Amino acid sequence: MRLENKVAIITGAGRGMGHAEAVRFAKEGAQVVVAEIDETSAKQTFEEIGGHGLLVLTDMARVSDINALVERTMAAFGRIDILINNAGVTRSLGFFEVTEADWDWMYSINARGLFFCMQRVAREMAKQKSGKIINIASIAGKGFRGTSNIAYAGTKGAVIAMTRIAAHQLARYNINVNAICPGATRTHLYETIQQEILAKSGLSREEAERRMEASIPLGRANSPDDIANMACFLASDEANNITGQSINVDGGLVWD
Ligand SMILES: NC(=O)c1ccc[n+]([C@@H]2O[C@H](COP(=O)([O-])OP(=O)(O)OC[C@H]3O[C@@H](n4cnc5c(N)ncnc54)[C@H](O)[C@@H]3O)[C@@H](O)[C@H]2O)c1
Repeated sequence: MRLENKVAIITGAGRGMGHAEAVRFAKEGAQVVVAEIDETSAKQTFEEIGGHGLLVLTDMARVSDINALVERTMAAFGRIDILINNAGVTRSLGFFEVTEADWDWMYSINARGLFFCMQRVAREMAKQKSGKIINIASIAGKGFRGTSNIAYAGTKGAVIAMTRIAAHQLARYNINVNAICPGATRTHLYETIQQEILAKSGLSREEAERRMEASIPLGRANSPDDIANMACFLASDEANNITGQSINVDGGLVWD
């Protein structure tokens, strides 16, 4: 029970990594606030964790939703110990295919929403003089060539930069801010991107999988639990003296 009685907001907790983080955090004793745009998957996650927390339907592209998320969490629990800024979107696009609408869509959630959620949550954490913020970035933000598209990589580079600046500016309030940079991780998002790549490349699924796994030194893509493990560590007291870091969980795809 590494997170006993902690209150944790997890954005995008309906599916994928956010779902794995919600299940793990609940097992570790946390009250989990499932902040998710999709009602069906949000309810499934919330039921799976036995209702230990709160469900708040939230669109991370809307600052008014983010404000309401924090207000409802404070009304229910009176504090916020952990924020996992996990919700993110992308699709497979070549350099010349990225449109203004694609750019605005990805930045509104991955970078703008992530910042305003950090800012709003940190207002409460600053009063408590404690808190842990964990941003889900990507190795795409460190220049990984296999990124889904250039604008997405830019959003994740922004997350890494903002993680460092927030870590500096919030340290005086005893708030730790770190990021996780996942490599290929078997989630709904990953499946969608794979389908788009297969349709464009004409490769068989088996061949695409073989090439992807051959490119990873440890030979496999992440499971969502690989990310939940790191998130749990960074959210726990064991990580009390770690801040400003963007830690790769990727089987060795990228060194830095
Ligand atoms: N899967 C990968 O290979 C991979 C690699 C690196 C980084 N990431 C990052 O990990 C994070 C989680 O991705 P995933 O693979 O679990 O994706 P996913 O699509 O499987 O799950 C994302 C969840 O976020 C929710 N969501 C989407 N838009 C939202 C919004 N506007 N407001 C609230 N919730 C919203 C979705 O409904 C979904 O439940 C993202 O930030 C993604 O960029 C994923």
